[in-house]
Amino acid sequence: MYVIFHENTRTFHLYNDDISYIMTIMRNGHLGQLYFGKRIQDKEDFSYLLETCERPMTSYIYDNDRTFSLEHIRQEYPVFGTTDYRQGAVEIRQENGSRISDFTYRGHTVSEGKPLLAGLPATYTESGSEALTLTVTLKDEVTGVQANLLYTIFAKGGILARSVQFANEGLRPVRLTRAMSLCLDLPDRDYVWQQLSGCWARECHIRNRTLEPGIVSIGSMRGNSSHEHNPFLVLKRADTTERCGEAIGISLIYSGNFRIQAEVDAHDTLRVLAGIDPETFEWKLERGETFQTPEAVMVYTDRGLNHMSQTFHKLYQKRLAKGYWRDKARPILNNNWEATYFDFTEDRLIEIASRAKECGVELFVLDDGWFGARSSDKAGLGDWKANRTRLPGGIARLADRVEGLGLKFGLWFEPEMVNKNSDFYRQHPDWILSTPDRSQSHGRFQHVLDFSRKEVVDAIYEQMAAILREAKISYIKWDMNRSITECYSSAWPADRQGEIYHRYILGVYDLYDRLTREFPKVLFESCSSGGGRFDPGMLYYAPQGWVSDNSDAVERLKIQYGTSMCYPVSSMGTHVSVTPNHQVFRNTPLHTRANVAYFGTFGYELDLNKLTPEENEDVTVQIAFMKKYRDVLQFGSFYRLMSPFEGNETAWMVVSEDQETAIVGWYRVLNCVNGRYTRLRLEGLNPAYCYRNSQSGVCCFGDELMYAGMITSDETAGQVPPDVTPYTDFESRIYVLEVAKP
Ligand code: GLA
Repeated sequence: MYVIFHENTRTFHLYNDDISYIMTIMRNGHLGQLYFGKRIQDKEDFSYLLETCERPMTSYIYDNDRTFSLEHIRQEYPVFGTTDYRQGAVEIRQENGSRISDFTYRGHTVSEGKPLLAGLPATYTESGSEALTLTVTLKDEVTGVQANLLYTIFAKGGILARSVQFANEGLRPVRLTRAMSLCLDLPDRDYVWQQLSGCWARECHIRNRTLEPGIVSIGSMRGNSSHEHNPFLVLKRADTTERCGEAIGISLIYSGNFRIQAEVDAHDTLRVLAGIDPETFEWKLERGETFQTPEAVMVYTDRGLNHMSQTFHKLYQKRLAKGYWRDKARPILNNNWEATYFDFTEDRLIEIASRAKECGVELFVLDDGWFGARSSDKAGLGDWKANRTRLPGGIARLADRVEGLGLKFGLWFEPEMVNKNSDFYRQHPDWILSTPDRSQSHGRFQHVLDFSRKEVVDAIYEQMAAILREAKISYIKWDMNRSITECYSSAWPADRQGEIYHRYILGVYDLYDRLTREFPKVLFESCSSGGGRFDPGMLYYAPQGWVSDNSDAVERLKIQYGTSMCYPVSSMGTHVSVTPNHQVFRNTPLHTRANVAYFGTFGYELDLNKLTPEENEDVTVQIAFMKKYRDVLQFGSFYRLMSPFEGNETAWMVVSEDQETAIVGWYRVLNCVNGRYTRLRLEGLNPAYCYRNSQSGVCCFGDELMYAGMITSDETAGQVPPDVTPYTDFESRIYVLEVAKP
């Protein structure tokens, strides 16, 4: 990887084997964007790429240059209002009311590796040779505000990570009212915009739209990144498929209010902005203070969507997630939530855990309901001490008993919330986010603690750390079950209220940081009523997240398929639950529920005592299977083969790094009679290796499986011979392909 600065043309060229990113210092001192895409050879002069021409009804900066208008120039970090009429990346409100600024080049540095971003999650490097970081310093002379634009190019993969650091080096305070992490001005709009959208229990559905003049955007103003829109965007060419074609993925490493938008101007150029949602953000920057934006990651590929996804998977698995669990196969767990909801005793939990242990489960997780006066969702949040009626020996004794069974023990928390019916709230009624003289809306009877205040975070930290110190806890499920309303903090002055949403998330990150540092071996799973905060920010602290409260196997096909556009299999919390399913009341076969959940962290969300002995045997086999193959399933290369958004069948597969093992998941929603012959063209295999198919016992070379395809047709056409198990609706199969060794 290289970061070149051509002095004569004042042009930067960042490149590696996959991508080039080129920008130039323009005659007005601003940074102009020249190129982002497949790697091109370096040369001195790319100035022809700064395309502009004299157009009517345009405002110009220079008297003598009727082509130089920012309205028509692709820029790196633009400002609205100085001949550019598009939305800008930065806006500074000054004491005199002006919102205009003029950021010009002051210098740049190149360093090995990648700096940490203070207080924020971000991708990282483990050695200087993994990446180079270019910092370009711009300054607005009038306010004295400096903007350091950070660009990290990694040695491998078409990845560029970006963020911006502001420093007020002027004499007066200013207000940042817009501080986007990334602006990407592209020369055309011939892309399909693809977003991951949905709502509770229907997260990450893939939605596409074409781009026309005007603005399209996704975002959140809910305080969490949201079920509604994941902070992730793909721009793909119309002919791009999973296997080939150009795509740009943009992912924001942030868990709060965000916006990702694209503006197509009258001449069909495209401006993409990604960062903190400007509508709900304002930050006062006193003299001498700094502000760091979240990081945005851009991935370019010309090898199709799947290659883009794999690039994100590897980056987020290895250089965003961190700590003890990063590279480890995840424990198979049994969570009691759908088994008992709030209705449990210590002995009842031990009954569930005991049977789980017999079937091979490794971790028993006690979900909501173990603390304070929590007998329903109306009370208890904030009081993180065991409810002694339900758990007379406290968490420590329960954890000991679970450990005594040979299982690890995990516990649910919802640290950011409080019920009014709790001792914590009664002691600190002013510690919730709420606007003076306005109603205090609740969500699920709970209120959001003011995590913009250090003393609130400290108090929750103390409670959580006390339990983690006293009991043998190996796993924490960290939930967040409502969005923020009436966002206001009584601890901050009027002119700082625009900072609260962001300060809240900084408080959440701070708590995560402290707990993961003090308890480095505890596995954290993030959750927000399922996938309400399933984002890269969380992944930095919690290497896995509960993808959705919807555990129905058919629904999960779409949710997990969509989630895989950006996030690795190892990050997806996936469980087998009972039928009829508690969210959609559908009956799917047990094997299909497992066949979907294998492509994730895997666990059970039920009481195995309530299953038949035959089903318990099946579960035992499932767990043994997962233990055998979880390294490949969770850390192999993931390929999407058939989309649930396009038909009755879904298929995906993983391939081990050594290409000796591949596992294919095939799923069909509705059964069909006398259907067509079907085959799957597999991917990622070694063409020369001979693989034995676990379903048919047949051996085929990798090239046959990839180019001729693996047969998936039913063995019957509706007339079922006596020795064949009939297929049903919601059918699925797992094909394990292992190199046939002589
Ligand atoms: C949320 C989570 C569930 C469960 C409940 C407990 O909805 O997503 O998995 O933990 O809270 O109240």
